[in-house]
Parts: sequence; C-alpha cells; structure tokens
Amino acid sequence: MATAVLGMQWGDEGKGKITHLLAKDAAMVVRFNGGPNAGHTVIDRGVKFGTHQIPAGVFYSGVKSVLATGMVIDIFVLREEYDGIVEHLGRKPELIIAENAHLIMPYHRILEDLEGSGSAIGTTRRGIGPAYRDRAARIGIRAIDLLDGSRLRERLHSRLDALKRAWPQSEEIASLSASALADDLRSAAEPFLASIGDAPAAIDAALTNGEEVLFEGAQGALLDVDYGTYPYVTSSSTVYAGLPHAVGLGGLRVEHRLGVTKAYTTRVGEGPFPTELTGEEGEWLRSAGAEFGVTTGRPRRCGWLDLVALRHATRLNAPTGLAVTKLDVLSGLEEIKICRAYRLHDREITTFPASLEDLALCEPVYESVSGWDDDITGVAAYGDLPAAARAYLDLMAEGIGAPISIVSVGPSPEETIITGFDRG
Ligand code: IMP
Repeated sequence: MATAVLGMQWGDEGKGKITHLLAKDAAMVVRFNGGPNAGHTVIDRGVKFGTHQIPAGVFYSGVKSVLATGMVIDIFVLREEYDGIVEHLGRKPELIIAENAHLIMPYHRILEDLEGSGSAIGTTRRGIGPAYRDRAARIGIRAIDLLDGSRLRERLHSRLDALKRAWPQSEEIASLSASALADDLRSAAEPFLASIGDAPAAIDAALTNGEEVLFEGAQGALLDVDYGTYPYVTSSSTVYAGLPHAVGLGGLRVEHRLGVTKAYTTRVGEGPFPTELTGEEGEWLRSAGAEFGVTTGRPRRCGWLDLVALRHATRLNAPTGLAVTKLDVLSGLEEIKICRAYRLHDREITTFPASLEDLALCEPVYESVSGWDDDITGVAAYGDLPAAARAYLDLMAEGIGAPISIVSVGPSPEETIITGFDRG
C-alpha cells in the first residue's frame, strides 16, 4: 500500500508533521525531489527537530529512509543531519541513497551567488538550480561517483577546470581543488557510502512485499518547475504527476494521495501571489502562524486561501484527501476570506494563468465567512470543532474538490484530527 504526502501550495504547508505522523505505520519513507532547500519541522519526543534531506520517517526504528533519484543531495548537509539524528536517537538511521541521484557541490552554491540567479528569484541559496542544471547538461556528479575515489577526482577535475575557465575572477572557485574536494566528499559520506545503491529496486521490492511505503514531497505544486509560477519556482517536479519518474517506477500506483494545504496561504521568495496581504492583516497572520522559513529564517509572505491556485494543484497532485494544517492560527478572526475566482481585465476567471504577467494582474474575488473565537488546539474530534470552523473546512473541500482527511490544530502530533483517512 502506498501513500504520498504532497504540497498543494508554495511549500511550507506542514508536510513534515503529516509525514512524521503517518511514518510510524510505514516500512519505508521516500523523499523524491529537491534537496536541502526543504525544511521540515518535526516535534519528535518533545524535541523540535529540523530535517532537510532525510525524510521524516527516520525518527521511527525499523523505517527505511530513501533519498530517491529525483533529489539533489548535498553530502555535507546530509552528514550534519545524519550526525544530529544519531545524537538525538542514539542509533544510526537506515538509509538508501539512489545511486543515480545528483549531488550538490560547493561550487553550485558559489555559482548561485556569482550569477545572481538566486537573488532574482529569492531562492534558498542551497545550490539547487545549478545542480539540476548540471544534471540536464550532463556534467553533474552522481551519488554513484562517490564509490570510486579516482573516478570522482577525475570528474571533479574536468568540471572544476571548466568552471575556472568560465569564472577566472572568482577567488572562491579558484580555491577549489578536485582532489581535496573528492577527499572531503568521501570522508563526509563515509557513514553512508554503503547505503548508495539501486533505490528503485528497493522501493519496488517493498511495494511487492505489500509493505507500507510513504512518499514525501518537498516544496509544493506552485513551485513545480513546469507547472508552478515559473520562473519563481524550484528546479524539480514537486507534484504527484512527477513522482513515478522521480523514483524510477513507471508502474507506480499510489492509493492514498494526501494533498497538504494550510488553512491560509504563504510563500517565501519572489513571484506573484494574488491573495497576499501586505498590510496589518498580513503582519498579524505572520506572527500568529510564526511564519518564518525553517531553512533560511526568512519571513514568509502571508495571505488568504486561494481556491483557484488549489484547484490547479489538485490537477497536478490528484489528492484523494486533504490535510489542512494550521487551522488554529485563524482562531479569533471575526471574518475569514477565501478566494474563489480571479478578476483579470474585467473578466472573472477560475483557472490559474500560466502567464506570470497575467497572474500578477489578477485580483482575488473573495467570499467572506464568519470566523470563530474558541481556541481549537485541544480539539480531538471533527464534530467538536466550532460550527464556523467546520463550515470553513466544508467550503475548502468543496472548492478544492477533495475530502478533508486530516486537520492539524497545533504543532505537536497530538494536536491532529484524523477524519476519514482509511489506510486500508
Ligand atoms: P530553490 O529551490 O532554492 O532554487 O528556490 C526556488 C524557489 O522555491 C524560491 O522561491 C524558494 O523560496 C522556494 N522554495 C524552495 N524550497 C522551498 C521550501 O521548502 N519551502 C518553501 N519555499 C521553497
């Protein structure tokens, strides 16, 4: 049986908490895209923990953590994460690292700064774009290259030669040496060198054996490289539509596809955001929801829920259920707005424009619903939520086109209402 946890917005929907919650029943958790640009905040045994590349299943013993081919992996960051987890858990995580996955090299981060591409888009500056670009340009270094020191040195040598010719003025690039980098990489990867292997075969075997496999997406549908708000997107496919390719299984069938959305909207970085609240209301949401990035600490832009964008995400993620997070943040508001259409050039539209210029001109058409006063963090059953909160959730489910499976009413695992999520 397979389940996927997928972002329905611009990332930061709270996928980490949901994966962490579901992972305790899984045999394997697979992260399938992105790299250390993601940041999951997980509360494990009362300790707040940030994971960046290792999927949230790592906290349970016996759960295998797979870093799939669709990712770009920063070995130095992975080593830090690995050591932190060993210290927190007192045991080694069981990792499988896809041999075909590409690696983020120190020069990818340097390039992002040198080219200014990161600041134009407001990236996380973790080298994601340059690493995926090297993959497409067929000059990348893959996890499998770590297994053979002389091959690694040779590949790095030719890549660094080209970079030194292209960026003669960069002292940072000039200071990189292929043999030192190869040695550093292999020594950082030492605890998990033996985990590099055929990830698609391992996932396939788990599924064939009837094991519970959980696929964990990073970022969200609106950051997808093809279907998001291009060019203000990340460089990977972030959606269910890209999952089979990212894990190397053409026949993959994922029975449960959980689309995760906040009860409002946030985004970090640049790019159009039709329901953004720039004044006091935006400030209020940011502070009520503690909306600051896990990876970069940047304040997140905040706004009302956008059904037009969510329906676009529904086509890409095909959710069988929704996990609505941070509903508690909206408590205390007299009125809540929900965007059900856009106004563009005096016309009302209900589809998400591919043109960035059009999207930037879109004015949200709102429907207002009443809020609720009660603190809902302790609510354990759907029926015990205030009627106004239930009405808001109904409006979301109907507008997005999928039933509500999970409602998160606080950061810790206990503060979660599970409704109608049947895992077979
Ligand atoms: P990159 O993935 O670092 O190249 O950044 C590209 C865009 O995706 C920027 O707008 C980032 O802020 C955004 N982004 C990347 N990862 C995340 C994430 O995990 N949460 C939210 N936004 C993200």
